[in-house]
Amino acid sequence: MATADVTTLADALRSGDATTRIVRGHDAELDALVDGLRADADEEARAKYAQLDEDLSVTLADHRLVKDEWEVAQLQLAVDATVRGFGDVVKALPQAKDTSERFVEGTFFLRARVEGNDVGYGTIAASGANATTLHWTRNDGPVREGDLLLLDAGVETTTLYTADVTRTMPVSGTFTDVQRRVYDLVYAAQEAGIAAVAPGRPFVAFHEASQRVLAEGLVEWGLLEGPVDRVLELGLQRRYTLHGTGHMLGMDVHDCAVSRQEVHLYGDLKPGMVLTVEPGLYFQPDDLTVPEELRGIGVRIEDDVLVTEEGRTVMSAGLPRSSDEVEAWLAERLPR
Ligand code: GLY
Ligand code: MN
Ligand code: MN
Repeated sequence: MATADVTTLADALRSGDATTRIVRGHDAELDALVDGLRADADEEARAKYAQLDEDLSVTLADHRLVKDEWEVAQLQLAVDATVRGFGDVVKALPQAKDTSERFVEGTFFLRARVEGNDVGYGTIAASGANATTLHWTRNDGPVREGDLLLLDAGVETTTLYTADVTRTMPVSGTFTDVQRRVYDLVYAAQEAGIAAVAPGRPFVAFHEASQRVLAEGLVEWGLLEGPVDRVLELGLQRRYTLHGTGHMLGMDVHDCAVSRQEVHLYGDLKPGMVLTVEPGLYFQPDDLTVPEELRGIGVRIEDDVLVTEEGRTVMSAGLPRSSDEVEAWLAERLPR
């Protein structure tokens, strides 16, 4: 397929006609240029052109599902810089305790700007009960000694590929028993999810595997009434899991979201696809359906996984995942 430098696009569009197709919503100037080309079209024709634009977006998203070698390398650069950014945050935790979640966000942002273009999405730096708010991006709360800190952050490369990684860590360096219990269940769910990522497996398999482990744990703890199959059929676990288990990753953090369902959500995994596996459990501070000791605890573990010919590679394996590994990682890095 012939391509050209993106800086020549506006000029090329000026010499186009009403049938020129464009992916909308990325550049207001280009959108306006194409609207100008269609200014004389009647309503019916305009609706047809809008549909052609929509079809182009979907087709491009379909093509972006499988990453080539260069794209995988860009994503690995993004992930590696992100791993270093998480290390920076751990070293800065004492200053975060003296200030707020802002210090966590700012510390990661420095790494993103120095090694990449930017962060790929608004950093979530959520300490204590703030971790139970799904997209906590205010990042203005306190970071307390006994809290879990949930950090969801990704460096975006200068080529605009982004990582999307979450770690949940005890600010003190050590999980309490109840924090560890929640963490270990999320970890088991993530292990099951990652194991279900393989070429030829349905895209939804990793989600289903993770959700089953979470549902089993919630039934075992007495928070949900079994049997587990009924819980899953009705989606009862979602009160505490809040979100899906992952999504495609690439130039957009939720990459290829508009691609056709039959090749994405209802399709099979192929080598070269990159996705996140990110189960979580969130117990709201005012949720009277759970024992008091669980209220205000939010845990998510999110890794970026490449589908390979043989199975999978966890691209973010440079960060610890199990509770013991997280504690060892903190012990090494937390200033004494
Ligand atoms: N950081 C957004 C997400 O995990 O999907
Ligand atoms: Mn994600
Ligand atoms: Mn994330």
